[in-house]
Amino acid sequence: QEDVFKKIVSHCKEYGFVFPSSDIYDGLGAVYDYGQNGVELKNNIKEYWWKSMVLLHENIVGIDSAIFMHPTIWKASGHVDAFNDPLIDNRDSKKRYRADVLIEDQIAKYDEKVQKEVAKARKRFGEAFDEAKFLETNERVKEHIAKRDALHERYAKAMQGPDLAELKQIILDEEIVCPISGTRNWTDVRQFNLMFSTEMGASAEGSMKVYLRPETAQGIFVNYLNVQKTGRMKIPFGIAQIGKAFRNEIVARQFIFRMREFEQMEMQFFVTPGTELEWFPKWKQTRMAWHQALGFGAENYRFHDHDKLAHYANAATDIEFKMPFGFKEVEGIHSRTNFDLSQHEKFSGKSIKYFDPQTNESYTPYVIETSIGVDRMFLSVMCHSYCEEKLENGETRVVLKLPAALAPVKLAVMPLVKKDGLPEKAREIINNLKFHFNCQYDEKDSIGKRYRRQDAIGTPYCVTVDHDSLNDGKVTLRFRDTMEQERVNISDLASIIEDKVSI
Ligand code: GAP
Repeated sequence: QEDVFKKIVSHCKEYGFVFPSSDIYDGLGAVYDYGQNGVELKNNIKEYWWKSMVLLHENIVGIDSAIFMHPTIWKASGHVDAFNDPLIDNRDSKKRYRADVLIEDQIAKYDEKVQKEVAKARKRFGEAFDEAKFLETNERVKEHIAKRDALHERYAKAMQGPDLAELKQIILDEEIVCPISGTRNWTDVRQFNLMFSTEMGASAEGSMKVYLRPETAQGIFVNYLNVQKTGRMKIPFGIAQIGKAFRNEIVARQFIFRMREFEQMEMQFFVTPGTELEWFPKWKQTRMAWHQALGFGAENYRFHDHDKLAHYANAATDIEFKMPFGFKEVEGIHSRTNFDLSQHEKFSGKSIKYFDPQTNESYTPYVIETSIGVDRMFLSVMCHSYCEEKLENGETRVVLKLPAALAPVKLAVMPLVKKDGLPEKAREIINNLKFHFNCQYDEKDSIGKRYRRQDAIGTPYCVTVDHDSLNDGKVTLRFRDTMEQERVNISDLASIIEDKVSI
């Protein structure tokens, strides 16, 4: 599985999806650039989200707020004081780790031990194996489970403060070693704020420290009343936004899974206080349905309900997707109470209450948030679509089985040869279709090679223009996944393809 992931990462680079940032300077840690195909796929993901949120919901509208915001916003939101990772250094390797990640990995190790025992027993007992009974009765397994649960409970408690001394004590008690040096020579645990900051202005009185936003949500909170009043929105209503966010992540791993500059698609849904726990499950279902509509298979998704809640939430869940490195969070759904809005009232000194014209009452709305990372979504789409297929002639083809609506290029048009008026005919077809969807012209190399190239970037349709096309007005349409070919009228191409590729 790790091997497959490495292949996906190099495929992304080789075919113009994702490049390391500043590549000719050997890259910049956990920052990436999207190439000519990556940007199309990313835009399609954003459009798929925007349409489902803003166009399909009468009571949801969009905004685009600035990345720079008044610095007091981050005081009010709690990010200055509480948006920290607990870090620990190993004195021998001089490597820095997140203490919480080290402990979570340790919890996962107990789980792995249990899974190993289960797999062994299943092999031994075959058909007759009863997993539930085995977990309850096998002494060794019971011991692993007890240790895991005890550790989990101790860890969850330590994270509440967080109690930094206790986090270190857990690492010592569990005899966790540095993956690089193999030693237990740990420093104390320290808090490290994840926000990037910079200076704004350079007046005689000095400049102001401003932050690069670590989430887009605050831009929605501080604008909610502007939008509500100018849009005459009535509760319940939502505000959606897509934009960049920045976090100085320490553990930057797994390619675009955890980046320092990334993009979020967030929606805040404002509801009457006391109804938030009715809306929370509704949004859970709506968002899960959005993911599953891509057709990647329901078994590849799951909810992970949180017991460790962020400083602003009273309920939270993640939608996890099965990546090659395990089930991982792609989206968070949070019931954020009225925490943010009341904090902004307090810190700004302005009333931002909603006036309900029906009851003549004013109140601070509660908020359900759905928050998904564009880049993580991109990675899940890539991981699921990447396929290596053995063909009948013994060759292997690499094909991206992207949902047609997300594919960067929808149709490649190829003249069989570079003469006899075939290129001109191919160009004519593209000129008619390019206003409908993204087309690509390709005349270089053999037809077989050209098909492979389109397979590798996930183009769902290719048409070949041959000599007969000049007389009968027909072309060969080739389907990416089945590789089947069909003779169709040039005049029918728009209607055959457009329906399948539109978002
Ligand atoms: N406003 C709530 C919020 O930001 P979060 O769980 O911290 O919640 C939401 O982030 C989503 O943003 C995550 O589910 C993930 O998809 C994405 N995300 C967060 N940090 C990221 C990072 N460093 N790199 C890429 N995506 C990230």
